[in-house]
Amino acid sequence: MSADRKDAHVRYATEQHRRHSGHNPFDDVSFVHHALAGIDRRDVCLTTRFGGITWPTPLYINAMTGGSPTTGAINRDLAIAARETGIAIATGSVSPYFADASVADTFRVMREENPDGFILANVNANATVEKARRAVDLLRADALQIHLNAIQETVMPEGDRSFAAWGPRIAQIAAGVDVPVIVKEVGFGLSRETLARLKETGVRVADVSGSGGTDFARIENDRRERPDYAYLDGWGQSTPACLLDAQGIGLPLLASGGVRHPLDVARALALGASAAGASGLFLRTVLDGGAPALTALLRSWTDQLTALMTALGARTPADLARCDVLVHGDLRAFCADRAID
Ligand code: FNR
Repeated sequence: MSADRKDAHVRYATEQHRRHSGHNPFDDVSFVHHALAGIDRRDVCLTTRFGGITWPTPLYINAMTGGSPTTGAINRDLAIAARETGIAIATGSVSPYFADASVADTFRVMREENPDGFILANVNANATVEKARRAVDLLRADALQIHLNAIQETVMPEGDRSFAAWGPRIAQIAAGVDVPVIVKEVGFGLSRETLARLKETGVRVADVSGSGGTDFARIENDRRERPDYAYLDGWGQSTPACLLDAQGIGLPLLASGGVRHPLDVARALALGASAAGASGLFLRTVLDGGAPALTALLRSWTDQLTALMTALGARTPADLARCDVLVHGDLRAFCADRAID
């Protein structure tokens, strides 16, 4: 059942990604053009540091999959691209391994293909400390993601219906594992109130993973016999909205959800994120062209991000947060409603 579900997620997410176009909330963010701001490319350094973690590039391949033969092969390709580019990578939720240890290799392949890379293991917020440690051990992971997905669970017929223990569980895991803990959404966003609670639990970093890209309410509706929850399409806050909402929160942030190209990465960094990641787009890239296609895409993004930072006068990813940006449209209305300056 779990293996079928993992394959269905890949199928529906890819279909959704191929269909999706049009307005993206990142389009409501633009840089003020300063014609004399540019610096020399050789002075740009992409290294990013946050919550005790250092990555050479402010990009990552976000959590997706594992647990079936098909998704094991996808993990292999994702891991090869991560190794070739030195970009950090997360596994999908390790839950299928807790249910059936015979699928261990579909996750472990990521470490085998990428022995020296930065790998994040991934568990749900119901995991015990013991399971969280097993997930870290399985991947020899450098960090642990805990995903929050109440809306996805709600639309899943077989989904979880008890969420009250998540907060205390996160605190126990953060205190009980030896690697940094990063809490993430799965595409519905983290509000500043949620971030404030996470900060109290000992979490080092949060990945806002907002709406605008992969929509798990739709994916789970597609898996249902009838799309009973179709009205939930579009639920949540977009990634740029979350970053604006989080200003001054004092917790390092990662940005994922709807990131389409290097300009969206630069926009996310300008709004305060320490790095930006993608899932659906990178999945589609490996399904279409294997590891070589994703390697080429990640290299191209790195090159273009460096070029944009050169023109914008940002020596480091953190410098982008000092660039002047304008906020338009729905995003501006969101800021007004949430009393964000
Ligand atoms: C995901 N995502 C996800 N997240 C997580 O924490 N654990 C998981 O197991 C999964 N599984 C998963 C499967 C597939 C096929 C996709 C496309 C995504 C969510 C993912 O990490 C990310 O938060 C969202 O997809 C939003 O980013 P994009 O896809 O808009 O770039």
